[in-house]
Amino acid sequence: MQPAVTLRVTRYRPEQESEPTLATYEVPYRKDWVVLDALNYIKDTLDGSLSFRWSCRMGVCGSCGMKVNGSPKLTCASFLSDSLPGPIRVEPLDYFPVVRDLVVDMSDFMRKLKKVKPWIIRHDERPLAEGEYLQTPDQLDAYKQFSMCINCMLCYSACPIYGLEPSFIGPAAIALAQRYNMDSRDEGAPERLEILSEHDGIWQCTFVGECTKVCPKHVDPAGAIQQYKLTGAIHWLKSLLLPRGAR
Ligand code: SF4
Ligand code: FES
Repeated sequence: MQPAVTLRVTRYRPEQESEPTLATYEVPYRKDWVVLDALNYIKDTLDGSLSFRWSCRMGVCGSCGMKVNGSPKLTCASFLSDSLPGPIRVEPLDYFPVVRDLVVDMSDFMRKLKKVKPWIIRHDERPLAEGEYLQTPDQLDAYKQFSMCINCMLCYSACPIYGLEPSFIGPAAIALAQRYNMDSRDEGAPERLEILSEHDGIWQCTFVGECTKVCPKHVDPAGAIQQYKLTGAIHWLKSLLLPRGAR
């Protein structure tokens, strides 16, 4: 007989249920299957109404984030073999409103991301005829790690501060702000610091560090937040000690 594994999967269809429940499915066990394969098996053969997001199946698009046995994970990178003997619990990410089954609404993050201006800001654009802005390998290394973010939201789901204070701007938005601050072509750091120094910005983080632990791309948002706090503190000190023109 083919070996099987049990999945306990959140179902929530707002038009017919007042709250989420867990449904049980038996799926074939294959050594090379990830949780996303098992969800696709359920959708293709057991219940076509199960809703979840995915796209690339290779840890790039960031859309398949869910909780697997209580931890935020990319389901396309979570092998069934790591959770044996099961049952394996699959739930939507914490702290985001659930639209349906395993699908969450990420509008809050999209709004916050826009606030930190995640693009290159320049006060004077160089004419095209002068060519591109060149960077050394060291200048690239300064921000490359933060540029690896795939907006998967695992760090928000792991962050107890975001859970308690939904207004907190959150780990990925801060890491992505830092991605541009550290870019030698960018001149927008003071604008971003102003936004991130607000009540809902960097100072809400108490350095729990879970965001960095769950990040599948090694972005280290906790590190970005600590860097930012240092910059914010130096800026504040300078504002006390130095006249405006000398800061
Ligand atoms: S920082 Fe890491 S965990 Fe957070 S959204 Fe980006 S890739 Fe995902
Ligand atoms: S399906 Fe794209 S990251 Fe998992």
